Amino acid sequence: MDELINAYNPALPLRKAVTPPSAWYVDETFSKLENDAIFAKNWLVAGRVDQLQSEGDYIATEVAGQPIVIVQADQIRAFYNVCRHHAAQVIESGTGCTKAMQCPYHGWNYGLDGKLHSTPQFAGAEEFDKDATGLVPVRVAAWEKWLFVCLDENADPLEEFLGSLYHQLKPFNLDNLKFHKRVSYDLDCNWKVFVDNYLDGGYHVPVLHKGLNSALEYKHYRVTTKDRHCLQDCPTSKKQDDISTVRTGDKAHYYWQYPNLMINLYEGVMDTNIAIPLSSTRCRIYFDYYFGDDPKYTEAFKQQSVKVAHQVQIEDEDICVSVQRGLASNAYNTGRLSPEKEAGEHLFHRLLHQDLVTARSGLHIS
Ligand code: FES
Ligand SMILES: [Fe+2]
Repeated sequence: MDELINAYNPALPLRKAVTPPSAWYVDETFSKLENDAIFAKNWLVAGRVDQLQSEGDYIATEVAGQPIVIVQADQIRAFYNVCRHHAAQVIESGTGCTKAMQCPYHGWNYGLDGKLHSTPQFAGAEEFDKDATGLVPVRVAAWEKWLFVCLDENADPLEEFLGSLYHQLKPFNLDNLKFHKRVSYDLDCNWKVFVDNYLDGGYHVPVLHKGLNSALEYKHYRVTTKDRHCLQDCPTSKKQDDISTVRTGDKAHYYWQYPNLMINLYEGVMDTNIAIPLSSTRCRIYFDYYFGDDPKYTEAFKQQSVKVAHQVQIEDEDICVSVQRGLASNAYNTGRLSPEKEAGEHLFHRLLHQDLVTARSGLHIS
């Protein structure tokens, strides 16, 4: 595994950079390492702030393959959604509101603060410390519209993790945007193929997305990388076609935050893409749509906007699946990056490498 990790050279500047070897994208063992080294170590979006409005509201989901519940208690709290008795999932996956968290197996009851309150038919158990048998807590923090969870107790706080991105979205007043709906896509490709495609600085836009290209002033497409994020921005065209009318405002902003969050912003319109690995060759992409609360964002506008994003996604999906097949072929191992366009991918690959090396060195010490 170390050999495979070090087959990527993070020291090369962009103009000389070479992509990670294709085994990073096809090998199942590598994918497992990635789960521990990347997904279990970084802050990941696990829900939305608007899903927790009242005491007892919860989101039962998965983070890095672990069952997690986020709940509105005296404050927002998160726990492993695993009963301390015989490990059953305490709260059924999904969202809802509850007064207490009762395990559906033998009825152990936990408070919203995770403390174990009652253990029916358990009298006589010796050396059983109820106070030390609460749900195991997990770090959770909110930023803008999202709830992030981090499984690593030693990771930097969310604000430091996000770095200069933390304050960068303030001018967009995301509070004015309301969640509309989620659409999910299962793709036959590694999650990094999707992220690489997102981060190619618009390189593929004129070739692959002829429709979207007409809504952008492509020659002014810019890429800025900093900390753990990349911003791609581009002025929008003033055409009056089907796409341009739902991609309003002066500029498109496409933010990516390592490892798997993408935020696409137009005026009054936002969608996020969250990439979740399902295996080395499959991933799920959640598209969450948000719109401004101004009446000009009518139902018809929203429908058209989602339709446009869906069309672009279908074009991306086909090419991602094609890339995945190519990565598994005998003809390909590594490729080069466009110095003009692909700085985002360069940052992504270096961050992946750093986390993989850190995780491996930790393993060697213990
Ligand atoms: S496993 Fe939860 S009460 Fe038994
Ligand atoms: Fe695309």
